[in-house]
Amino acid sequence: MAVAATAAVVPAPGEHTFREALGRFTTGVAFVTAAPDGKPAGLIVNSLASVSLDPPLVSFCPSRGSLTWSRIRRTGRFGVNVLGSRHERFARRATPAGADRFADLDWELGRSGVPLLTDALAGLECEIVAEHPAGDHWIVVGRVDELRVAPAADPLVFFAGEFGVLPSGRRRRRARPARAPAGRSD
Ligand SMILES: Cc1cc2nc3c(=O)[nH]c(=O)nc-3n(C[C@H](O)[C@H](O)[C@H](O)COP(=O)(O)O)c2cc1C
Repeated sequence: MAVAATAAVVPAPGEHTFREALGRFTTGVAFVTAAPDGKPAGLIVNSLASVSLDPPLVSFCPSRGSLTWSRIRRTGRFGVNVLGSRHERFARRATPAGADRFADLDWELGRSGVPLLTDALAGLECEIVAEHPAGDHWIVVGRVDELRVAPAADPLVFFAGEFGVLPSGRRRRRARPARAPAGRSD
């Protein structure tokens, strides 16, 4: 099969080119939370992934150097807040190490005791079931015990190192499939 030669081919992935290549993969943005010692803690991530339907599992990848993850993991649980375009300022403010990530934030404790934003697009409550070392990060797997889904709203996305939103109208056009999917859609 002929492949159009439009992309530069780089043999060894240095950190910069690796980041650049993976930056071409558009993701959503989530706020992973817990309340170690009764105090809310959380970090912004874009490594959230759906892993399994039965049982319902998700994963995300905290850095080995993350102080916040070292506190969250002690609780054995974490919450996932899927962020919308309305959370862009919050996400920017909450990213730096040492930021007060819950200042001026509207949140409550979920049934399992993890902090959940009241206006997230979706909120998951997870039990940590595995934590695998993976280079300079961990792969954390959580079983979803509780979840809440808000009415559809514009998501916050991350692409090429920048926050962004979907082009206007894109979400509404994609909301209803034109025909039933023939097989698994995951
Ligand atoms: C869009 C975006 C995605 C991020 N994704 C991750 C991630 O998947 N894993 C991670 O450890 N840090 C991620 N970070 C960085 C963390 O949000 C945070 O800044 C970092 O963990 C330092 O804070 P800490 O020491 O309190 O953990 C991301 C930051 C941004 C802006």
